[in-house]
Amino acid sequence: MASPTTAQAPAPAPPGLKEGIAGLYDESSGLWESIWGDHMHHGFYDSGEAASMADHRRAQIRMIEEALAFAAVPDDPEKKPKTVVDVGCGIGGSSRYLAKKYGAQCKGITLSPVQAERGNALAAAQGLSDQVSLQVADALEQPFPDGQFDLVWSMESGEHMPDKSKFVSELARVAAPGGTIIIVTWCHRNLEPSETSLKPDELNLLKRICDAYYLPDWCSPSDYVSIAKSLSLEDVKTADWSENVAPFWPAVIKSALTWKGITSLLTSGWKTIRGAMVMPLMIQGYKKGLIKFTIITCRKPGAA
Ligand SMILES: C[S@@+](CC[C@H](N)C(=O)[O-])C[C@H]1O[C@@H](n2cnc3c(N)ncnc32)[C@H](O)[C@@H]1O
Repeated sequence: MASPTTAQAPAPAPPGLKEGIAGLYDESSGLWESIWGDHMHHGFYDSGEAASMADHRRAQIRMIEEALAFAAVPDDPEKKPKTVVDVGCGIGGSSRYLAKKYGAQCKGITLSPVQAERGNALAAAQGLSDQVSLQVADALEQPFPDGQFDLVWSMESGEHMPDKSKFVSELARVAAPGGTIIIVTWCHRNLEPSETSLKPDELNLLKRICDAYYLPDWCSPSDYVSIAKSLSLEDVKTADWSENVAPFWPAVIKSALTWKGITSLLTSGWKTIRGAMVMPLMIQGYKKGLIKFTIITCRKPGAA
């Protein structure tokens, strides 16, 4: 699982990757929602924070707010985003949150038909059908014209993308001039100047995670920055939030080991069970400094 650099052509997408991702989320989203609610992403914590499930849900909302603050997305009624795309939207937790927060129109895309249907049903139940619409589509070939969205949002979907350059260039293409792009994603650590690849034990750990979660090659935060700069995106900023997400995976494992978690897992299907089995490897990856929970934000040039 070598780090792609922007100079290299990306490795071809593993066969069946898209179908595998769709199948994983078709199978597991109901279980996740029943225990964790509608946000399928890490929480953002202060050190020592979080005891109950309510704390974890608050931390997931805080993740959204921290990402918006990091990117300096304006709340001002004149300048706030009016159009949003949620790329890799899950069941649309962020879509509905952003639509409500900004009074914006929000389109979401996911590979999972089950997620799109469920997210649209939740939007309808919350009276948001005229603002939020989710559909099945590929982030690497988005079904939107150029320059549509004031805010382009990708919360924990980048790690599934087999071609990171194409991914970021699609985010940039659909952004409106002056629009903000926010990518929150799993990266591997930056390579040292003396290194051309991660170490064999690190590659082995990532491979086991990738096989279970339908992830192609990972890249580093620096790779994302290089890609954004190569696309002439402006105000490129990044931060490592690995410390802030540390309580998350232990909490997911704890929730899987409850009676409800175990019985739901056993009836959910093999992809979900396999995903649960590698959860401790995520903790190991963070502890070794191999996995970096990263935010990258930037702006498309042009009128704000
Ligand atoms: C971990 S979930 C995150 C969901 C959501 N962003 C959230 O925070 O709740 C990853 C999502 O990325 C989507 N995804 C992965 N690869 C994709 C692709 N090529 N095109 C569109 N969506 C993709 C999956 O379908 C899934 O909805």
